[in-house]
Amino acid sequence: MTEMGCIGVVGCGQMGSGIAQLAAVNGYEVWLHDADSVALSKARESISSRIENLVLKGYLTKGKGTEAIRNLRCTSNLEDFHSADMVIEAIVESEDVKKKLFVQLDNIVKSSSILASNTSSISITRLASVTSRPSQVIGMHFMNPPPVMKLVEIIRGASTSDDTFNATKSLAERFGKKIVCSQDFSGFIVNRVLMPMINEAFYALYTGVATKEDIDAGMKLGTNHPMGPLELADHIGLDVCLSIMKVLHAGLGDSKYLPCPLLVQYVDAGRLGRKKGVGVYNYRTQNGTHFP
Ligand code: NAI
Repeated sequence: MTEMGCIGVVGCGQMGSGIAQLAAVNGYEVWLHDADSVALSKARESISSRIENLVLKGYLTKGKGTEAIRNLRCTSNLEDFHSADMVIEAIVESEDVKKKLFVQLDNIVKSSSILASNTSSISITRLASVTSRPSQVIGMHFMNPPPVMKLVEIIRGASTSDDTFNATKSLAERFGKKIVCSQDFSGFIVNRVLMPMINEAFYALYTGVATKEDIDAGMKLGTNHPMGPLELADHIGLDVCLSIMKVLHAGLGDSKYLPCPLLVQYVDAGRLGRKKGVGVYNYRTQNGTHFP
């Protein structure tokens, strides 16, 4: 098992930017790529300011903070990933789009490199099948936000080797995470259990069982969850929740996984959650668009 020095992260959204931050803070050289160059420069600024905040709060020495910011390089050119020992993909939750990226990465990175996906639900075995290195493809599922949440779910595809698993586990542990291991079935552990609950909360809202505030308060105070399911859906992104429900439905074939029509409608309306300023709740200030 070779020691990792350089990590590539593809996708600089909520998850990719957090994963890149974790890697940079833990002393790895990081290449961060996104198809959207504006998003990429915003991500660079927000990662740098989060690292500066860690220094200000005393979680990181000034020297380590400066080194972490220096470790992070953003690029619009995927070819820059040729020296990466591991690439962690955190782009949109679409099997087709992820497969296209895995084909590209397979042609760019060294033959020894590991390709990991942060997918919430998509088959690692199928992503691996489009590459020439299925034994070096693995699921490395961080929780949101990656620098804060303690868990990484590791998913072995049908051909993932022990070396790939061990290297991924070591990396997660170096990031200070606890790991759980899941078989490669739609939604793995966390989203197999969480998403049907969130979907059911949408059904409760859709069928008028209660207001959104009461659904969330009921689950927070009644079951000791830190966030209500609708609030959590806004935090995750309603587009991500919908994509995961579709994967669960297609992969497990039970009508209980059909996405709630209200969730579908919100996504159609662009109400994607906190990242867009509006989802189930409105996070915009007074000048923003008004949603009921
Ligand atoms: P996001 O919507 O915040 O960011 C996705 C980023 O990927 C965007 O910046 C977009 O420009 C970029 N992108 C899309 N297609 C691309 C391509 N072909 N090449 C390069 N960049 C591309 O999404 P988020 O929430 O960060 O999710 C990313 C992945 O992480 C998904 O697979 C999702 O299921 C998974 N995930 C999400 C969690 C969440 O709470 N949002 C938690 C754990 C996993």
